[in-house]
Order: sequence, then structure tokens, then C-alpha cells
Amino acid sequence: MEEVRVETAGGRYPVYVGDGLYEGKFVEEIRRLRPRTVALVSHPTIFAVHGERMLAALGEALGAAGSVARFLFSQGEEHKNLRTVEAGYVALLEAGINREDVLISFGGGVVGDTAGFIAATYMRGIGCIQVPTTLMAMVDSSIGGKVGVDLPGAKNAVGAFHQPLAVFSDTGVLQTLPAREMRSGMAEVAKYGFLYDEALLAEVETWSGRREPGAAGLEDIIAACAVHKARVVGEDERDVGGVRAMLNYGHTFGHALESAAGFGTLLHGEAVAVGMMMAARLSESMGLAQGGLYDVHRRLLAPLLAAMPLRVEVDAEELLVYMRSDKKRGKGERFVLLEGPQAPRLVEDVPRELVNEAVEDIVEDIRSGEPWP
Ligand code: GLY
Repeated sequence: MEEVRVETAGGRYPVYVGDGLYEGKFVEEIRRLRPRTVALVSHPTIFAVHGERMLAALGEALGAAGSVARFLFSQGEEHKNLRTVEAGYVALLEAGINREDVLISFGGGVVGDTAGFIAATYMRGIGCIQVPTTLMAMVDSSIGGKVGVDLPGAKNAVGAFHQPLAVFSDTGVLQTLPAREMRSGMAEVAKYGFLYDEALLAEVETWSGRREPGAAGLEDIIAACAVHKARVVGEDERDVGGVRAMLNYGHTFGHALESAAGFGTLLHGEAVAVGMMMAARLSESMGLAQGGLYDVHRRLLAPLLAAMPLRVEVDAEELLVYMRSDKKRGKGERFVLLEGPQAPRLVEDVPRELVNEAVEDIVEDIRSGEPWP
């Protein structure tokens, strides 16, 4: 097991990474918090596979006097919205959850963001423990306290900063994660690699190259990503100093892709992978990066897009419309670009024609289909 510490003004907490955490550290932590009732927020698919194990751990931690109130909602980005949040408030209210109790978010990024937002706002905020069950959520969204939901056509448009009390990334649950979801998570790992850590890029390549890439050996990769995330969040918790903004590498394009494709069509990591390719192309055409940066991205990221359903349906024009409505546009056009691998730079005033060109080039490349795996 590895432990990474997050230290922010909004909360100091551990991120545990390892196999078999639910029966160990997790039980200890719940006992220490001594909630009367735990609100367990999840979705039916993850609950069907791992719910028994989670309930057994909670039973052991809470003892006979404690109870667990469940709130399960359907899987997918299309359910990350205010209707789900309201249903969650009602479920918590009916279960008598109050500020001494704890909410446990048990699922992937959609569950984590939505459950975290419920915790941030229900009774003006209750404690939240993040128990991510996807690689994507383990390496990124469960850490750092960004929680929220989408509005129609606007991803993460409503939200809060609400640091969890602890994060438990049990690598055992990744054994049952579908391959497409694993690849999506690997795109977020590659993001840390391009931004900060060459060794992580090598890990992604090795993982993709294995004949049967699975969950083995992931503890170190997840812990390495958690260290990067903890450092960044520690320096710039509320995303105002330009440090945390770097984590949006590929995301300005990626969020627009997710919206244009219709929420739930692309996995977050798939959209971010394509977004990073667009950002790499833009870095080249801006004269920031040497030629070759895009090719490196393509080589590493294309294998992660093997199951992306949208190869031939991405429309460049539509994408650009969504990009203009992105909430992060506040200070004008702002992109995370690379001067090279591990040399990120936040760039404002990017010429519109170059953005358009990068989008069109990569959409064209994806459409061509030819050299893709
Ligand atoms: N996922 C980006 C951030 O947490 O800031």
C-alpha cells in the first residue's frame, strides 16, 4: 500500500493506493470518524459487482449501532446533473443524514463529481470519502476536491471545491474494469506524463504494448499520478494561480468533444486523448514546440482510442461552437500547450485560425481511420 498526502487550506488528507484497502485502512478510517450513518452513493453496476464487499467493510467498521443509507443512480455522464443531485438530497434527508454523518462516493468520475457535490452542498456541507473504482477517477478526479455537475451542453458548469476526508484507491476493483475504461484512465496517466513525468509516458506505452494489458502493476502508476496531483493541488487548490490550470492539458478541446458528441458517447479519457493531440498540433503550429510532438502524442494515444465509437462522426465546426461556450474561456482564449514533453505553458491569445486548423487536422486524421489501431 502507498500513502500520498494532500495538504491544502481546504483540507489535509491521505490518498491510499493498494490492493485490499477496503478490509484494512478503510475500516480503520471509518472507525476513527465514527459516523452514526453512512450515505453510500454509487451506481447499480459497480454496486452489483463490488457492493457486497463495500457493505461488509462498512458493517465491520460501523458495528451494530451504525447504518448505511444507499443512493444509487444510473451510470454515465448524462446523469451527472442537477436532477440526480436533487434526488440525492431527498434520499439523504429521508435517511436522516446530518452533518455528523459521512457520505461515501463509490464509483468512477461521474459518481465522484456528483456525490462530492451533494456532500459539498447538503446541509451546507458534510464530510465525504472518495472511493474511486475506475483508473481515471483514481489518478485524477477523486483527488483535489473539484466536484460538480453538468448543465445541458456545458460540462462541469456548476460545482464547488470540497476536499474529501480521505481517498481509497483499491486496485483490486480494477480487475473488473472494462478494457475501454482502463484505456480512458491511461489517457489521464499520459496527461501527467506529457506535463511532468517522462517515466509515466514509458509506463503507458508498456501497458498498451502488453498483449493483455490489465490491472497488474498499476499501484505504482496510480501513486505516481497521485503525487503529481497532490503537489499541484497543494500549490493552487482553487485553480487561480495558473498551476492547477495545467491539469487541463487537452481538456479545453476534450470537453468540447464530449459535449459535441453528446454526453456519454465518449469516455472522458478518450476525449482528453484527442484533445491532447489537438493541443500538441496547436503547440507546433504556434511555433512553441518542435515538429514531432504531435507524432509522439499520436503514437502513445492512438492505442487508447481503440474502442472510441466516434471515429468518423466528429464535426470540426460543431466542436468549435462548443469550445466558444466553454466556461474556462473567462479570461479569453487560454490553452495549455507544450514547448516539448514536460514543458507546459499556459498561453493566451491563441489565433483563432490556428485553433480551427488544429481541430480540423486532427478530426481529419481520425476520420481517415487508416493508421489507427
Ligand atoms: N482534473 C483537473 C483538476 O482537478 O484540476
